[in-house]
Amino acid sequence: MTGKDARALRLGVLGCADIARRRTLPSLERQPLVRVTAVASRRIERAREFTEQFGGTPVRDYEALLLRDDVDAVYIPLPPELHAEWTLRALEAGKHVWCEKPFATSLADAEKAVALARERGLLLMENFMFLHHSQHARVRELVADGLIGDVQLFASEFGIPLQPARDGSDGLRRASTLPEVAAYPLRAAQLFLGPGLRVVGAQVRPPSAHGPRPAGSALLQSPSGVAGQLSYGVEHAYRSGYELWGSRGRLRLERAFSTPDEYTPVLKVEREGRLEEIALSPDRHFTNTAGVFARAVLDAQDFAPHGDAIVGHARLVDEVERAAALHTV
Ligand SMILES: NC(=O)c1ccc[n+]([C@@H]2O[C@H](COP(=O)([O-])OP(=O)(O)OC[C@H]3O[C@@H](n4cnc5c(N)ncnc54)[C@H](OP(=O)(O)O)[C@@H]3O)[C@@H](O)[C@H]2O)c1
Repeated sequence: MTGKDARALRLGVLGCADIARRRTLPSLERQPLVRVTAVASRRIERAREFTEQFGGTPVRDYEALLLRDDVDAVYIPLPPELHAEWTLRALEAGKHVWCEKPFATSLADAEKAVALARERGLLLMENFMFLHHSQHARVRELVADGLIGDVQLFASEFGIPLQPARDGSDGLRRASTLPEVAAYPLRAAQLFLGPGLRVVGAQVRPPSAHGPRPAGSALLQSPSGVAGQLSYGVEHAYRSGYELWGSRGRLRLERAFSTPDEYTPVLKVEREGRLEEIALSPDRHFTNTAGVFARAVLDAQDFAPHGDAIVGHARLVDEVERAAALHTV
């Protein structure tokens, strides 16, 4: 447990989500710049369970949390369909917002929320925590140093084996499974291939017991013509990685998106017929992401890049969905 900085950002949590309990809130214990001051739930006993573990005051409903003076910023781990609505309410209440990915279920919602955050001078940041694991910066450095020559292809997969829906399952959560999973390879493609990606093609698998859009894939192209091949789904065995294929070799990183804190990532490189493994440093991406959010507010940094990233991602998702709609089975 880390002592908190005197100027720590006071964070309220909207909803006692699984991701908040398993990863985000435990990781804040190591982040001196963030202190949990309130947790709201639709069930007060659930909020109390959280505050006993992570600190703060339990609050009976989300709106009441937004009215509190001891909350500077909110963390929103609600289902994606509710992100835009509660972000707008939080911004209206004068709170900075750190929202789970995917921020929005439509480009229009993303643009509206980003515009409001800009108007109010508040930070709106999407919680793509994997971006803040040092392994990806190291891969980018190695590639820039010529490890595999000129990059010709980026390929990435993210698959989570979900149990098929049974009667009484939560339809809202299940409906959002594919965009939630696709978000990772799409965001990684932006990281490695840069802005201006074009969607050349996409497909989505028809509804199944796993949900209305249980799997899909997309083919992207960067402005300089480098391809991105992405696959994602919830009826697959677990897979979470990416590969870069260059003019002189290729590299592959597994467990790239859901990397445990203590895990030592291993980069597999193949060059001139030789296989090599490069151990990268373990890192705490959830803790780091909270620090990025808090520092941006506390140091009054430029918030614009965070808004641009949200809109850029939502636009790419929108283009993939429109391309996939051309090929429905
Ligand atoms: N960054 C990451 O690594 C990561 C990983 C997994 C998931 N996520 C994202 O985090 C978000 C939450 O995912 P999760 O799997 O943790 O969700 P979850 O366990 O289903 O939690 C969502 C919470 O939202 C609240 N809620 C309010 N209205 C709801 C409704 N109508 N239906 C269901 N829940 C409702 C509930 O809190 P109360 O009952 O307490 O009010 C619930 O606990 C998603 O956007 C997901 O993509 C991010």
